[in-house]
Amino acid sequence: MSMTATRVQHESAEPIELAEPEHALWRDSIRRRCGLDFSEGRRRFLSQRLRERMSLLGIESYGEYYRFVEHDFEGGREWQRLIELLLINETSFFRHPPSYEVLATYALPELMRERPGQQPGEDFIRMWSAGCSTGQEAYSMAMIFPRAAGAGQSWQTRIVGTDISERALAKARRGHYRKHELRGLPERFAGRHLAPAEGEPGVYKITDDVRAHVRFARFNLAGADDFYMPEQDVIFCQNVMIYFSLDSRREIFARLCRQLRRGGYLFLAPGESVGLQHPGATPVRVHDTMIHRRAE
Ligand SMILES: C[S@@+](CC[C@H](N)C(=O)[O-])C[C@H]1O[C@@H](n2cnc3c(N)ncnc32)[C@H](O)[C@@H]1O
Repeated sequence: MSMTATRVQHESAEPIELAEPEHALWRDSIRRRCGLDFSEGRRRFLSQRLRERMSLLGIESYGEYYRFVEHDFEGGREWQRLIELLLINETSFFRHPPSYEVLATYALPELMRERPGQQPGEDFIRMWSAGCSTGQEAYSMAMIFPRAAGAGQSWQTRIVGTDISERALAKARRGHYRKHELRGLPERFAGRHLAPAEGEPGVYKITDDVRAHVRFARFNLAGADDFYMPEQDVIFCQNVMIYFSLDSRREIFARLCRQLRRGGYLFLAPGESVGLQHPGATPVRVHDTMIHRRAE
C-alpha cells in the first residue's frame, strides 16, 4: 500500500483510522521528537488529532501530511501546532499532596540541614518543575517553600518550570486561573497568594510574592535542545513520563538524575518509577512516597 493510499475520508463513510505503514511513520517520528508514545493504544487519539490539522490545511492523506511536517520548510512551525494537540496538559495545584508533604517536612529540611553555614544571599534552594503544564505545580512548590524555610531564615528558592507546550507556558507565565483551575489549592494558600484579576470576573492571579520566585522556559525533555540549567536541589517530574515509551522514560530519568545536585531529590508521581534505575540515584521511601536521592 502506498503512503498516499490511505485516504482520510471516504464518501459517506466514517473517517478511517490511521493504518500501517503511516501509523508507524508517525509513531516513530513523534517518539523521536518528544518521547510521546503513540503505539496501538493511542492510535485512535493520534489519528483524530492528525485529521484535525489536515482538514484545516486541506491535506487528504496521512502520508502527505507526514511529508509536509518532515520535509517542507514550513514543517517546523506545523510541528509546533500539531504537538499542542497531542499533549495532555491536565494539572492542578498540589496534585499529589503526599509529595508536597514530603517536600516540606523531609526533603527541604534535609537539604537545608546538610548545607549550613553558607553565606547569606547564597542560600538558594533550586527547584525544577519539569513538564510544568500551566504552572500550578511550580507555584505549589513556591507556596510550600516557606513552611520548610521557617520564619526569619535566610533560605530562598528559585524555581524554574519547563514544558514543551508554548500554549501551556504562556498561561503559566501569566499566572491567572479560573475557579475550577484552583482545585487542590488549600484555603490557607489561596487566601495568602491569590488576588482577583482586575477586569476578569471569576479569575484569580498569583500574587507577586510567589511569582517572584518562579520563571518558565520551553524545554523538550526528550530533545537535544541546549538549555543551560544549574544543578537542581529538587526536581518534580510528575505525570509526564506516563505518556512516554519505556526507552524514552529511561533516558529522561537518567537525564533528571544527572541534573540533580549531590544530595538532591527527584519526585515522580506514584508508580512512575517502576522499571527505572540510575546508578547515581537511590530510591528512598518517606512515609508512603517514593522519591530518588542523588548519591553524595
Ligand atoms: C499531564 S501534564 C502534568 C503536569 C504536572 N507535572 C502535574 O503533575 O500536574 C504533562 C505535561 O508534560 C508536558 N510534556 C510532554 N512531553 C514533554 C516533553 N517531551 N518535554 C517537556 N514537556 C513535555 C506536556 O506538555 C504537559 O504539560
